[in-house]
Amino acid sequence: MTYQQEYDAWKNAPEKFWLEQAKKLDWYKTPEQAYVQNEEGQTVWFPDGELNTCYLALDHHVDNGRADQLALVYDSPVTATIERYTFRQLLDETAKVAGMLSQQGVTKGDTVIIYMPMIPQAAMAMLACARIGAIHSVVFGGFAAPELASRIDDALPKLILTASCGIEVDRVIPYMPLLDQALDLATHAPTACLVFQREEESAQLKRGRDYDWSALIEIAPSVGCVALNSADPLYILYTSGTTGKPKGVVRDNGGHATALHYSMESIYNTQAAEVFWSASDVGWVVGHSYIVYAPLMRGCTTVFYEGKPIMTPDAGAFWRVVEEHKVNTLFSAPTAFRAIRREDPSASHIRRYDISSLERIFAAGERLDPATQQWMTDSIGVQVFDNWWQTETGWPICSNLSGVEVLPIKFGSAAKPVPGFEIHVLNDLGECMPPGQQGNIAIKLPLPPSCLNAIWGDRARFQEAYLDQFPGYYFSGDGGYFDEDGYLFVMGRVDDVINVAGHRLSTGDLEEVIAKHESVAECAVIGVADELKGELPVGFAVLSSGQDSSLVAEQLRQQVRAQIGAIACYQRTYVVPRLPKTRSGKILRKTLKAIVNQQAYSQPATIDDPASLAEIEAILKS
Ligand code: COA
Ligand code: AMP
Repeated sequence: MTYQQEYDAWKNAPEKFWLEQAKKLDWYKTPEQAYVQNEEGQTVWFPDGELNTCYLALDHHVDNGRADQLALVYDSPVTATIERYTFRQLLDETAKVAGMLSQQGVTKGDTVIIYMPMIPQAAMAMLACARIGAIHSVVFGGFAAPELASRIDDALPKLILTASCGIEVDRVIPYMPLLDQALDLATHAPTACLVFQREEESAQLKRGRDYDWSALIEIAPSVGCVALNSADPLYILYTSGTTGKPKGVVRDNGGHATALHYSMESIYNTQAAEVFWSASDVGWVVGHSYIVYAPLMRGCTTVFYEGKPIMTPDAGAFWRVVEEHKVNTLFSAPTAFRAIRREDPSASHIRRYDISSLERIFAAGERLDPATQQWMTDSIGVQVFDNWWQTETGWPICSNLSGVEVLPIKFGSAAKPVPGFEIHVLNDLGECMPPGQQGNIAIKLPLPPSCLNAIWGDRARFQEAYLDQFPGYYFSGDGGYFDEDGYLFVMGRVDDVINVAGHRLSTGDLEEVIAKHESVAECAVIGVADELKGELPVGFAVLSSGQDSSLVAEQLRQQVRAQIGAIACYQRTYVVPRLPKTRSGKILRKTLKAIVNQQAYSQPATIDDPASLAEIEAILKS
């Protein structure tokens, strides 16, 4: 089979194609219908199918000869721990966690927030929710309390599951003060918080609100899987949009399971019993899809890594894990490989380990820059694939289909559209651009399985955020171009979203935090190119008169850490006398971005006062 034959098989008969993929899964009721559009215009995948995602990830394998195979290996250099769980053990533990949730009154359709570090209990919590039909919403442990609070108020969780602390290299980060603050800020109160106590930090539990996870597990029954409709939500995952309010991407069960299983075969070329390691965090979509759900559904062993690519203890960390657990497929963000390359340009650490099990590497989360891809290819000696996708899709939109046909790799491109995605590059009027010309990347509707068809609690926002710009298309927010061979080059966001170390942040969110400072009259935040992290946020602020610029800049740095989190990597604020604006008062963010990134720009015709640009240039030079 060639790539083109596979793509055409989908294009010529999409419903047949997806039903065939769906039938590879162990449904309770196998679907006969691929999709319908419901009265609200949403695409509902496999409307007559019934399944349970936790069943597919665990019970199915225990029932089919994989009970004693490793399902999850927890490797934590920060606590010097390695724990191994077979499918049977992971199922037993998960069934107890599900029992614990049921005893707390959680039932199908309830929401549960999981605010946990990279410990196996986080995976068990996700799978346990899936088991009983509860909808989980994992919040990345690096977010500050106000971000957690806004997710609590949007998801309205019945329970919050957390741990006493996270560990950042050698720093213990207590979670309870963050949770306390978030619950003080939030309007909604969960019925309880279940706290997993870690040895590194014991949390003080609040009577009547907090309960000890391990004590509850002792008395919890094991519970089985409930049958769910394909369209029932599996999870909500918040991601940054162009405004401060995060968007809750809703994922279904049936479409998600089908697309992820197909991706493990066709994109990642992964067989059951292989070892799949996604070095990410369960707080991100990569963690949901390729740490927890896809590898387990495929019958692989997933590596659950609590560490960094460098510093835990050095730039050989990834290769140590590959050797120790015989990893076949490695997946991470380009930033991780840039960090390794920066510390170990001659790849000396790679030679210290036997990485012969490694067959391929995938990178996603941000563009894999050609220099890094070249270094990886030369130093690691396996094929390195870029793949482009988003929280909204849950799986790759564009990739080399390494399980179908490996197309020649072109550095800087995520290769070609994955079956299910018809991609068009459009100009601002919605007209298709010819090869070589850059524009807005859009996907023809309907979207394939696993893609969002709703934003939690905000139907209008889905339409407005993704569908209104180009009728008949989903707008990705990314810009790029196709080359003559049909390879897509994704060059970056064309909206107010920035990508810092593979983490997506909204400049609108940052601006809201900065604008709250009493001395800030006006501000703008843009992304500036960074060699390690891809982009870093930089602020421009106009202060009310008589303020100490460096003092305010430091306070703003602290404010962003406290309100959004250290993960925003917000360091720098330029204090300016005024911001460049159009005559109608719109801040010229694109021009500011070009100036900071030292790119050529032409003075916008609508600019109110051209001297404001010269002022900014002078400040940046000084
Ligand atoms: N909990 C609390 N704080 C966290 C955190 C977490 N889960 N994750 C990160 N932070 C903090 C860090 O400690 C750091 O704080 P500091 O400013 O006090 O030092 C800050 O947030 C920035 O973190 P990070 O971007 O991870 O920078 P770093 O300098 O600690 O590490 C890299 C640099 C390159 C090693 C790191 O960015 C990395 O591993 N990147 C890959 C990202 C990735 O895997 N993304 C997956 C998305 S697919
Ligand atoms: P997230 O939803 O956090 O996964 O971020 C998705 C965004 O990250 C996309 O819209 C892109 O801007 C960027 N992105 C992810 N993968 C790639 C890639 N392979 N190439 C270019 N950009 C990418």
